[in-house]
Amino acid sequence: MFSLPLRDNARLAPLEAWHAEEFAAHLDRAREHIRPWVGPAFVTDDLDGARDTLRRYAERQAADGGRLYGIWLDGTLVGGVMFVDFDAALGSCEIGCWLEPAGEGHGLVTEACRTLLDWAFTTRGLHRAEWHCRADNERSSAVAKRLGMTQEGVRREFWPYDGARHDKQMWAILAHEWQARP
Ligand SMILES: CC(C)(COP(=O)(O)OP(=O)(O)OC[C@H]1O[C@@H](n2cnc3c(N)ncnc32)[C@H](O)[C@@H]1OP(=O)(O)O)[C@@H](O)C(=O)NCCC(=O)NCCS
Repeated sequence: MFSLPLRDNARLAPLEAWHAEEFAAHLDRAREHIRPWVGPAFVTDDLDGARDTLRRYAERQAADGGRLYGIWLDGTLVGGVMFVDFDAALGSCEIGCWLEPAGEGHGLVTEACRTLLDWAFTTRGLHRAEWHCRADNERSSAVAKRLGMTQEGVRREFWPYDGARHDKQMWAILAHEWQARP
């Protein structure tokens, strides 16, 4: 119902069960682009799969856990950002993102992640926000850097994909680092 402007022609809004058809159509445009880089459960093949993802996030949100937000560019759903994990008791969360090709190169994900980080640190009082990505996902690690995150380590050969195992980078930013940003 409500959305937040990211640019004149782009907005961020909760991605919910009623978006299932729009989300499935978006995944048709995004699927092969995101498949190597995101968790396999997110790359569904049909409307039922898209609906399951939206339901799963709705259930997590109801338990004050994960949350899912879409990014619309010129009225088309082009990707989104999420709290993959959100643990208020532990004071920690993990943020994730994805875009179809038409959404890349506009700064939309970095801007959307800033909104999530501000909510997590300022409104919810969390202490840590993490970012996990394949070590060879340069566009993703560039977002973590733009957000002011620090690379804390590498889980070696953690990520199986297409018969190989890839290193996974762990990035994070702390609340006081977020509040002290220029
Ligand atoms: C990771 C991913 C979301 C990054 O997308 P992205 O568009 O590079 O990231 P941003 O939205 O932050 O945009 C930054 C780009 O927009 C450009 N840009 C254009 N206008 C801009 C503006 N007004 N403000 C800021 N940046 C702008 C930046 O220069 C930068 O492009 P460059 O890297 O070519 O210099 C995308 O590549 C993707 O979905 N990949 C596949 C799935 C994936 O990897 N998900 C993450 C799993 S960990």
